[in-house]
Amino acid sequence: MMRIDVISAVPDSLVSPLNTSILKRAQERNLAEIVVHNLRDYAYDKHKQIDDKPFGGGPGMLLKPEPFFECIEKLVSERKYDFVLFPSPGGELYNQKMANRFSLAKNILILAGHYKGVDDRVREKFATNEISIGNYVLTGGEIAAWVIIDSVVRLIPGVLNDSESALNDSLMDGDIIEAPYYTRPAEYKGMNVPEVLLSGHDKKIKDWKEEQSKVLTDKWKKINNLE
Ligand code: ADE
Repeated sequence: MMRIDVISAVPDSLVSPLNTSILKRAQERNLAEIVVHNLRDYAYDKHKQIDDKPFGGGPGMLLKPEPFFECIEKLVSERKYDFVLFPSPGGELYNQKMANRFSLAKNILILAGHYKGVDDRVREKFATNEISIGNYVLTGGEIAAWVIIDSVVRLIPGVLNDSESALNDSLMDGDIIEAPYYTRPAEYKGMNVPEVLLSGHDKKIKDWKEEQSKVLTDKWKKINNLE
């Protein structure tokens, strides 16, 4: 069973994301264990302070190093982590290849910063990978942690049912976008499902899907400035 630990100053924000739908099912099937640790539980001063003003000035507050160190040192004394991930807009852009690699891990630790950031000694001391989920700024690392966990856990064998199989997904084999999907009704508000899909002609359907996939992949590359 894969184990994922997350350290967060706002652990409540991850409760429902990590306990709904496929991530919930993965944990119920004992294929993944996801544990969120409250940074504040590791603040030992009497005010349970976890943030402080940045040295050198500037707006906002930073998460102090001590609670992170306390929590991380406890966790790494209990098991060996294959990856210690530090979500940050300054990190390596996240992609499917990285998800595939992380999905082979036994233990992953994610350090979710919040507010303006985290004292940099935490990243320096513990992070093995600094990861950005896109070139925009979020209020904290929790959403990035959710994105990473979701994309990794769905790849664990047994998490998806056959019909949801990750194998023929968009972006799974090389960078390929799949043909569009339709279900009943065949006609809705004057919009028709492509005729070929109703034909029952397997070869024609396969050719149509390949052609659509090629068109959508070219379009996707163009709008994303790839190649
Ligand atoms: N924290 C804030 N913005 C982020 C981003 N784009 N990716 C990962 N972590 C973040």
